[in-house]
Amino acid sequence: MLTRIKGGRVIDPGHLDTVADILIKDHKIVEIIAAGQKEAIEPVSRIIDASGKIVCPGFIDMHVHLREPGHEHKETIESGSRAAVWGGFTAICAMPNTDPVNDNCEITEFILSQAKRANFAKVFPAGSISIGLEGKQICEFAQLKACGVVAVSDDGNPVMDDHLMQTALAAAQSHDLPVISHCEDLNLVAGGVMNAGAVAREMKLAGISNASESVMVERDIALSELTTAPVHIAHVSTAESVQALREAKSRGVRVTAETAPHYFMLTDEAVRQCGTHAKMNPPLRSAEDREAVRRGLADGTIDAIATDHAPHSSREKAVDFGKAANGVIGLETAVSLGLKLVQEGVISLTQLIEKMSTNPARILGLESGLRPDRSADLTILDPDLAFRVDIEQFQSLSKNCPFDGWQLQGKAILTMVDGRVVFEEENPTK
Ligand code: DOR
Ligand code: ZN
Repeated sequence: MLTRIKGGRVIDPGHLDTVADILIKDHKIVEIIAAGQKEAIEPVSRIIDASGKIVCPGFIDMHVHLREPGHEHKETIESGSRAAVWGGFTAICAMPNTDPVNDNCEITEFILSQAKRANFAKVFPAGSISIGLEGKQICEFAQLKACGVVAVSDDGNPVMDDHLMQTALAAAQSHDLPVISHCEDLNLVAGGVMNAGAVAREMKLAGISNASESVMVERDIALSELTTAPVHIAHVSTAESVQALREAKSRGVRVTAETAPHYFMLTDEAVRQCGTHAKMNPPLRSAEDREAVRRGLADGTIDAIATDHAPHSSREKAVDFGKAANGVIGLETAVSLGLKLVQEGVISLTQLIEKMSTNPARILGLESGLRPDRSADLTILDPDLAFRVDIEQFQSLSKNCPFDGWQLQGKAILTMVDGRVVFEEENPTK
């Protein structure tokens, strides 16, 4: 039996942008029928009316922290992957800073089996670069890859040892594994807890300089050039990082980059209102940095929008700013904040879709795209649906969100994974 998604604007960046019907059978797209073309012959079991909506390749969040194993009170693989499909993501890449760390096949296989049980988004685990995230000894990349990791990263921690990073880049390249780099020079951070600047001074909080990020971005660019291995820079937050990436890309360096919605929507001013719910690593920066991140998204310097979804319980947030855990959740607001960027004229709708599906897929080596014979992983957006962000409605187990109460327009209303509807907005006209 067929499912037919009828009359939506079907956008597959670089390939397709037309009003069409999509026919789905046995987990796969079988045909895309442009308006006015022939009718399907087989009987259709379900028709999904997508008129006035946008149908795009399933969104892929390449940077998510699920807290299982180890911190299931913050998030489980089930709650996190449910939050993902509620937010329009069909696939997520799970960072390895769980407890124990995902530095071995036992943990990788556990994550994959829990994801399969949950049966929401596809979960692609990232393994760690170094054993126990300690930055001392490189993991067995060949084994990790064989067990199912799609990338390696010490995210949460930088790889401070330059030589270890060089060795890791070369080893990862030989196993065709992307390296996702958390760029932070701990010596320069030196105990800082928020962006260095006027807000930090007024709040009497120790500052974190832009250089603490950009010197590591420059280092990774240099190591990528030295080894010819690709490197992906996580959560870009500063103007200097964007400029370094722009120059490296123009020289042909194999570097890619992501940023997160909080870096293109907020500045360190948000710390005044949101307190610890605006504390993350790297920190929210100045208005100039936010503008530079936006320009980097617009001109292609920043390839991807990821959430860095980092759930923490209120216990870890309801403490002094300096002591609070770093991180904000993002899965259930990212698409709408991305659409806000489109509404503000910073990037086009096609660019947004590219940065949330096609590009993360390319960087991680995953399948994506609305073409016959590909998996029916897709997201339907209602660009007009206005709503108020309400953390009480979230599927995530954690509530650390600086966007609570924001009025937004446009959201994912249906998420399909392997031809199965895993999320559908109950009241799409609200
Ligand atoms: O804010 C952050 N939270 N930044 C990181 O690098 C790690 C993450 C976490 O795991 O909570
Ligand atoms: Zn992270």
